[in-house]
Amino acid sequence: MVSVMLPLAAAEQYNTSQRDANIPPPFTPPLSARCQNLPPKPPAPLLSSNERLFFGQHENNMADVVVKPQVGGGGGIVIDDDWPGYSLDLFSYPAHYSGDLDCVVVPHGVIMDRTERLARNIMDDLGDHDIVVLCVLKGGYQFCVDLVDKIKALSCNSNRTLPMRVHFIRLKSYLNDLSTEDLHIVGAEDLSFLAGKNVLIVEAIVGTGKTMKALLKHVESFSPKLIKVAGLLVKRVPHNSTCLPDYVGFEIPDRFVVGYALDYNEYFRDLNHICVISESGKTKYKI
Ligand code: HPA
Ligand code: MG
Repeated sequence: MVSVMLPLAAAEQYNTSQRDANIPPPFTPPLSARCQNLPPKPPAPLLSSNERLFFGQHENNMADVVVKPQVGGGGGIVIDDDWPGYSLDLFSYPAHYSGDLDCVVVPHGVIMDRTERLARNIMDDLGDHDIVVLCVLKGGYQFCVDLVDKIKALSCNSNRTLPMRVHFIRLKSYLNDLSTEDLHIVGAEDLSFLAGKNVLIVEAIVGTGKTMKALLKHVESFSPKLIKVAGLLVKRVPHNSTCLPDYVGFEIPDRFVVGYALDYNEYFRDLNHICVISESGKTKYKI
């Protein structure tokens, strides 16, 4: 039996106020099998908690919805730049991707556990109000399905309920592992049915935040009552915008990740864990 210490529990307890107060993060125990050749990166913390702006913050004009500040973990579980990832040998994954991945960054089970908690936070904030879930395809489909499932479970098993309608829009801005300047919004031409509605945008990954800002501007033009954003992953990129999703799963280093519906040229959506793609994987699927 292989036994590993999981640093995520410690990382979850390492909250943003500790980080803002310059308290060092918890020690990450070394693993025998590591993700090789990761370039050393200086820590690049995102904004301190009192500097943080949330995407939907300015829209929070609903007199009947009280959004409580989240206690700890508001910026998500922080995965440090020097976290080497889990060896692929510790997990199962499709054989057709063998050699195409460097390591597992977030195992599927951890994604599910974190999503369950995000669902609870969303229920606490928005429960008993109707919402329209706006799923950002294609990368957001798996997170959206699982988040909606967890909210449904809470609606069945608690004394609160959250009626949801689900709508899909598609964005495309990446070729290979590079962001292109063009943002294409497909299927979002007429969102006029959002007028006066509470909207929860569900997105898999937020990098610089430019894509999300453009989408928010588009959605805002249809005059919804409230907009909140749930992002499974937020990348610590050099020019991170000042806006963060209201609900964040994980804050991750600036590396190209795949799996859990995130793709590289349409491959790797059929992988359960969130992984770092290898150089040979990039070459194999390059277009
Ligand atoms: N992986 C897949 N899609 C993405 C990423 C990523 O790291 N960043 C932005 N879109
Ligand atoms: Mg993509």
